[in-house]
Amino acid sequence: MLKRIETMNAAALERMRESCSLAAECLVMVGERIRAGITTDEINTWVHEYCLEHDALPAPLNYKGFPKSVCTSVNDCVCHGIPDGTVLKDGDIINVDVTTIFPNTHGYYGDTSVTFYIGEPSEEAKLVTEVARRGLELGIAQVRHGAMIGDIGAAIHEYADKMKCSVVRDYVGHGVGREFHMPPQVPHYRARDAAARLKMKAGMVFTIEPMINLGTYETELMKDRWTVLTADRKLSAQFEHTVLVTRSGVEVLTARSALVKHSEDLPWSDLGPLSTPAAFPASS
Ligand code: MF3
Ligand code: CO
Ligand code: CO
Repeated sequence: MLKRIETMNAAALERMRESCSLAAECLVMVGERIRAGITTDEINTWVHEYCLEHDALPAPLNYKGFPKSVCTSVNDCVCHGIPDGTVLKDGDIINVDVTTIFPNTHGYYGDTSVTFYIGEPSEEAKLVTEVARRGLELGIAQVRHGAMIGDIGAAIHEYADKMKCSVVRDYVGHGVGREFHMPPQVPHYRARDAAARLKMKAGMVFTIEPMINLGTYETELMKDRWTVLTADRKLSAQFEHTVLVTRSGVEVLTARSALVKHSEDLPWSDLGPLSTPAAFPASS
C-alpha cells in the first residue's frame, strides 16, 4: 500500500525555505568553530543555541527519545552519533547532521549534514568523504519532474562502485516537511522494487543523504539504540541536502550562502564539474 506523497504549494515552500536555510547556515557556523580539541558536546551546544537564537528548535532533541540536539558521527560512526565528551583529534572525520523546526510559527523541518575534516586527513578519510560528497551531487543531478526515485540511488551506487566504496542500505533519505520523516523513502543504493519506480513530481520535497563506507555496507546498532557503526569498524562519511522537485529539475533548499570551512574549502574537495565524476582520487 503506497501512502500518498505530499506536494508543497508556494506558502508551504516559503516555510520550508526558512527552516532549510537556517539548518544550512548552522553548518556554516559549525565550520567556523570546529577544530581538534573540542568535544562533540560543544558542537551540540553551538547548534542548540544557534537554533534558539533564531526562534527555532533543534528537531533531534527528544525525537523518539534522542537525547541531544544534533547528531555527531565520528569516523566509523555511520549516523545518529550522540554528542558526548569525545574529544576531536587530528585526522578524525565527523558528520554533523542538523535538523531545524519552527514550532511556534509553522512547524516545517529542514534537514542537512556535512562531513568535516579535523586536521590532516588520511587518504582513506579523503576517499570516503569525497565519494559521499560527490555521491550526493550525483544523486541531486537525477532529480526532476518525471524521473524515478530509483534513479538517485542508481547514480550514487554506480559511482561508489567505481570508487571501490560501499553504500549503506539500512538508512535512507526521506520525505520531509511538516514531519521529520515521511514518505517517500529515498534509497542511496540500486533498487528495482515498486518504490524505486515511483515517479518524482514537481512540489515533492525529500532528503538525499548517502552514507558511504570504506569497507562493508553493513552496519551495527549499538546498545544505546541510536549510535550506528560500520560492521567492520572502517570509516564512513555522509552528506545530506533537502531538495525540492521542480518542473525543470531541482532546487536545493538547504543550499548555503558560503563554503563550509573544514569541509568544502579544501583543495581536494573541489571536484570540478559533474561531467567528471571520477576526478577524485585518480592521482593517488
Ligand atoms: N537527521 C537525521 C536524518 O537525516 C535523523 C536524526 S534522528 C535523531 O534523517 F533522532 F537521531 F536525531
Ligand atoms: Co534526513
Ligand atoms: Co539529517
